[in-house]
Amino acid sequence: MPALLAEIPSLASVFVPIVVGGATTLFFAWLLLANQSSLSIYVRDGFFKLWAALQRKSITVQDTNDLSPADIRSVLRSRNKGSFFERAVSQKAWLPLHSLESEDGERYERMRIVFHKVLVETRYPKRIAGLMEKHCNRDMSSCRSVCETVARVFFDLLFDKELDDESAKLYFDASMEWRREIAMKGFASKTTKVAFVKHLARHIPNKWFETYPECTKMEIVSCFAQPFFISPMINVSDILVAVFNVAATLPQNARSPVQLNAKELVKMAMLKYPAFPILEREVSPNQQVILLLSPTSNEKQASALLFGSGPRRCPGKDVALTLLHHIVERASRNMWKNFTPAVGHLYSGRNNDKEVVVSELLFVLRVLVRTLGMAALDFIGLKYADSASQAFYSEDQDMVEERSVPAVSVDLVGNDTDSGAESASDSECEY
Ligand code: HEM
Repeated sequence: MPALLAEIPSLASVFVPIVVGGATTLFFAWLLLANQSSLSIYVRDGFFKLWAALQRKSITVQDTNDLSPADIRSVLRSRNKGSFFERAVSQKAWLPLHSLESEDGERYERMRIVFHKVLVETRYPKRIAGLMEKHCNRDMSSCRSVCETVARVFFDLLFDKELDDESAKLYFDASMEWRREIAMKGFASKTTKVAFVKHLARHIPNKWFETYPECTKMEIVSCFAQPFFISPMINVSDILVAVFNVAATLPQNARSPVQLNAKELVKMAMLKYPAFPILEREVSPNQQVILLLSPTSNEKQASALLFGSGPRRCPGKDVALTLLHHIVERASRNMWKNFTPAVGHLYSGRNNDKEVVVSELLFVLRVLVRTLGMAALDFIGLKYADSASQAFYSEDQDMVEERSVPAVSVDLVGNDTDSGAESASDSECEY
């Protein structure tokens, strides 16, 4: 009998996660596939409540339609994302990178400083229009061509040189790998991720590694990789698919370049198909809020949502909108010829995805079972060692060590920093 008692924690460690995780996520996934009935909303909220209870936290899940813009901004005033999707799912999917969007705490604070310094030193307000003229004259006839163009613009902006065709292909392939895992559609190829990280790391001037010794090398690389390459490739292509869908619903005469305002169209598309359907904040140590972006949010609500609000709002909003407006304006001027960004577009995890295949659904289940299972283990006082993530971390040094190429010639030190980037990042979103 004592022997059996001694076994109880290990039995619990097997059964609690399986029962709690398996049952609820199967039910949750089934309801996700069902329409937005009130029953499915109850069950969705039940899932979040169980997840929160396992963390001994309380949670509020809010559809943004039910909140005033002031309420939305008040939630988004918090600096912490908390311990739900960003921490439990996205941080792992981003590995070996650390995504500023998903991190909290000391790592977030370290990386935030570096990122803002890099953004200011690109002097993007003065340079971005020229770079778009230079790189956006390619066709936008596939997700690949859109993403490669985005990568070329940002590579030139950051390093003052062109990304060659072979490398642009690698950058696109890597973005698709991350995209698959972040959207919970399957595992990413580690080889492709690593090839991208190594390529990018070789081009980052030594100055950035030397100036911030408190950051790991991977944190520095991440400040370039995630906000300037992987996320924009995902978001810009996703938004352009939404633009295409919205434009297709307009009457023929309204689609003419004379009638159509690129800014209005991008705004309509972003409202209808929000690129970030969920925003999270930990509003106090034991209180989490999840905001679910409703596609029927009005403009005032959307102004606080599409690029976020508060200290965690998107600092790349201006550069992103300039890029999007430029591409859409060009497409409308060309009467939408060669503008088919949905070709090859996959894994957005958002409203404009096509049908979900069984293997993708199983992967969603796997992630959710694992997530709740780990929360359950934690609840009963057992820590789970994630050996796969730890292995990825331990390769951190190797992946960025091979920076044999000398620092690139662009002088990032002492440049004119009166670029407006800082003030842009401080401005509130107009939508
Ligand atoms: C292409 C369209 C883009 C969209 C739709 C977008 C949207 C967003 C959203 C919704 C957030 C989260 C805000 C929140 O939680 O309140 C965010 C965060 C962020 N974005 Fe963007 N973004 C885009 C492009 C960019 C670009 C081009 C950059 C860099 C130049 C960038 C850099 C960042 C960073 C660093 C964060 C994290 C900020 C923090 O947590 O402190 N974004 N973005």
